[in-house]
Amino acid sequence: MTSPISLPRFPESYWLDSAKPLPDYPKLQHDLDTEVTVVGGGLSGITTAYLLAMEGYKVVLLEAGKLLSGTTGHTTAKITAQHDLIYDELIKQGGAENARLYYEASMDATRFIESTARKLKADCALVRHDAYVYTNSDSYLSKLEDEMKAYDKLGIKGSLESRIPLPIPSKAAVKMDNQAQFHPLHYLHALIKTFTDLGGEIYEGTTAVDVEPGPLPRVVTGDRYKITCKQVVACTHFPFYDGHGFYFARMHADRSYVLGLKVEDEYPGGMYLSAEDPKRSVRSVNLADGGGMLLLGGQSHKTGQGVCTINHYEELQKFAKEQFGLKEIVYRWSAQDLVTGDKLPFIGRITASSPNIFIATGYRKWGMTNGTAAALLIRDLIMEKENPYEQLYSPSRALSAKTIVNLVGENANVAKHLIAGKLELVHKRPEELANDEGSVVKVNGRRAGAYRDTDGQLFLVDTTCTHMGCEVEWNDGERTWDCPCHGSRFSYRGEVVEGPAEKPLKIIRS
Ligand code: FES
Repeated sequence: MTSPISLPRFPESYWLDSAKPLPDYPKLQHDLDTEVTVVGGGLSGITTAYLLAMEGYKVVLLEAGKLLSGTTGHTTAKITAQHDLIYDELIKQGGAENARLYYEASMDATRFIESTARKLKADCALVRHDAYVYTNSDSYLSKLEDEMKAYDKLGIKGSLESRIPLPIPSKAAVKMDNQAQFHPLHYLHALIKTFTDLGGEIYEGTTAVDVEPGPLPRVVTGDRYKITCKQVVACTHFPFYDGHGFYFARMHADRSYVLGLKVEDEYPGGMYLSAEDPKRSVRSVNLADGGGMLLLGGQSHKTGQGVCTINHYEELQKFAKEQFGLKEIVYRWSAQDLVTGDKLPFIGRITASSPNIFIATGYRKWGMTNGTAAALLIRDLIMEKENPYEQLYSPSRALSAKTIVNLVGENANVAKHLIAGKLELVHKRPEELANDEGSVVKVNGRRAGAYRDTDGQLFLVDTTCTHMGCEVEWNDGERTWDCPCHGSRFSYRGEVVEGPAEKPLKIIRS
């Protein structure tokens, strides 16, 4: 019999499990003309499509898999302008005005989500909570004090606290007042319904692979159908069309893990994040049966560089046992997001030479507010309306010397993994794999990726990433092949789960 506090065998997101299934939308199987093509069926793509449809635009929304099955379906769903310790850093990096704009964009996004949920009568359990960044490390005390000074300078409502209400050891915390949390899928289902009621078209299972730029750009799908439009919006993490923006060299992919827990202790309210590593993120969920669940997140690492990924769940499990009266682990899941060199998202025109192609990415795991801010900004850019945040988020913005140093470091890390993967000595053979085990193995003297499923069937893939040739690594927590260079992910059958790769891994045998 399974222990009541063992990890669930397979990952599953509470948000996806608890939301009613959406209708199945068709795969695009013909050419189309429209005004705006939005690519990416997560929060930013759906919100952008909704906003433009509300303004009377004819919009087509494309999703490679199922709507909301990516990062949006695997978030912790905090709606907050408290994006870790950031405001002191932003003031030092770009001045108080830029830091203030970042805060205001996040607060505008929060208010938009709240008012839209109310307007559309979305039953999304949106409730206000204070947000805390806490520390239990002496070396972080001065950082929290500096962050509090930044709050004061920017007029952010909050306070420096000596402890947090949760039963987690803490020496100080910066509190931001009156932030929020919700059920993101219940909210977005209401936007999707409104979008389709307004005539918006959705195509699932439809991968956009290229854009033929021009005054009327054409989005090309994997099946070579073309959508001719006036504007293209890519809300696809790494833009599916790079347009010589070199985005794969300007961002890195980071994964993190979440457990859904039943605990004995009464939840005191609030949303929490540790300042120091390993990160610990905590919020509550009110379940439909009247009970409560605690979401514990953390254990970030660069995609494909997490070694044994199931260990990250086990570390969270250990923390939950130590800090809360843990009764049961109901869910486990993980998510991935992109981080830019200066920690600000890229939202706007992909390059100066392609004014009708827009991107929204680099949310640094704060996608509820940053993704909503992106949709509001892109709507205004398409409508040629002024928006105060255009320069702040411009993908063509100038980089500081520190950001350039960060990017050089990132790309050195990519080069290191490219070479290390090629030189890695592999001795294991496929026949040594137990059921439900994956590993890099040696087949006919060459490196290959092997996974033996729960029924004993063996799947073998070429481990050379189809993006730029790095060697993918096995992710035992999710049963995927993850690339350490730019974060592409592939199923054990080789299919693309997350880009920037567009083509599947070569199958050796399945
Ligand atoms: Fe770029 Fe794999 S994601 S090489």
